[in-house]
Amino acid sequence: MNKDKFLIKGLGGKKSLCGSITVGGAKNSALKLMAASVLFKDKVELRNVPEIEDIKRMSDLLIDMGIFVERRKENIYLFKSPSDCKTSLSSYISKHIRASIVLTGPVLARFGKVSFPHPGGCVIGKRPIDLFVIGFQKMGASVKIKNDKYIIETQKGKLIGASIFLKNQSVTATETFMMAGVLARGETVIKNASVEPEIENLANFLVVGGAKIKGIGTATLTIKGGDLLLSKGKFHTVMPDRIEAGSFLILGALTARELEVKKCNPKHLESLIELLNYCGVKMAIGKNSIRVFGGSPKRHLKPIDIKTHEYPGFPTDLQAPMTVFLTQASGESMVFETIFEGRLNYFESLVKMGADIKMMDPHRIIVRGPSCLRGKILDSPDLRAGLAFVIASIISKGDSTICNVYNIDRGYENIEKRLRGIGVDIVRVIQ
Ligand code: EPZ
Repeated sequence: MNKDKFLIKGLGGKKSLCGSITVGGAKNSALKLMAASVLFKDKVELRNVPEIEDIKRMSDLLIDMGIFVERRKENIYLFKSPSDCKTSLSSYISKHIRASIVLTGPVLARFGKVSFPHPGGCVIGKRPIDLFVIGFQKMGASVKIKNDKYIIETQKGKLIGASIFLKNQSVTATETFMMAGVLARGETVIKNASVEPEIENLANFLVVGGAKIKGIGTATLTIKGGDLLLSKGKFHTVMPDRIEAGSFLILGALTARELEVKKCNPKHLESLIELLNYCGVKMAIGKNSIRVFGGSPKRHLKPIDIKTHEYPGFPTDLQAPMTVFLTQASGESMVFETIFEGRLNYFESLVKMGADIKMMDPHRIIVRGPSCLRGKILDSPDLRAGLAFVIASIISKGDSTICNVYNIDRGYENIEKRLRGIGVDIVRVIQ
């Protein structure tokens, strides 16, 4: 895992960025589609797969299990699961990527057993997996913990369809049980399911392969169990990354003369567009692009209270970039992070840069603006806070150094090259 750094020259409040930036495939979709390949009898081809560290981690995990993975060419990957493979997920890899947990559903459903450590990934809260343990037990599996590993086995080799009410909506739990239900005996009903666009996209991908799923896009999913799926040579294109698109919109609103965010789906960004509109940001919404205008440096951005929420509410993954935006608004805003209890700690680094932010409790901060941020040496604690530090460094006066860039590479493909394309002065220092 690289120790690279970014050196960024701040614009010091100037609105000079311009041109267009293209959004890549969604990390939180591609990872699940890769896991779903275990449910297929034949080869699965995915296109528009982002070339990011997490995709490399998931590929390593699949290869370690004995699954065929081929990077056909940039952004195009092939996957083929053998009729028998290793069902113990590598601890070293799984502890670096939360999405490893979604593999448990397809592997258990197809091979009747799976063992894995508590998944890792962004340190943004406790991130328990009780929903997974309860759900698999409801589907007739036994769950044991030995040497820090969960060992889950079906009775008689097959999961049994069950009704699973998720005590709180969970993206990966919904995806995992939807995939497990595809090969289970009988019907699985997931209630209080998450409705993020990545889940709808995964469900449609499974249905094209032959799965029987009802209620797609709603909080109640019904999956009728059946045989292995078949892609019949059809490829699937990974949807645009709405979190990346949203981050570019926020960057453009703060720094651009005019910026076009291309290859995105504005429908998936309605909550953010609504908030930016309210704050006074001018945008032109296209079918799969958005133009954002930074306006005059003297323009006042209105403050606004943010409350993160499950989709279609305001995404927790855009909370950190939006907090940077609010440091430039004229007045007081509250940021209420409802999903994760440890996802606000990055605010101290913004205060170091000159922001006026106070923590009320682990879920709430008060942001007062506008503040003049100054370049600093920053350590990117996780993926989204890391990208927020890049935005903060770009709007700052002076130079910034961002360390631990690996965390940003986990979710953004060639970010420095794409940012240079719109006028950002950013270089990577390879360590
Ligand atoms: C997914 O994480 C995303 N990760 C996260 O994106 C995203 O922040 C999150 O959904 C919410 O949108 C991937 O898709 C790989 P949850 P996930 O289960 O599924 C609690 C990024 O930056 N919970 O929906 O792990 C949990 O603690 C990442 O790309 C339980 O209590 O999130 C949280 O409070 C970060 N028990 C809430 O549910 C469980 O068994 C929602 O989390 C599981 C979750």
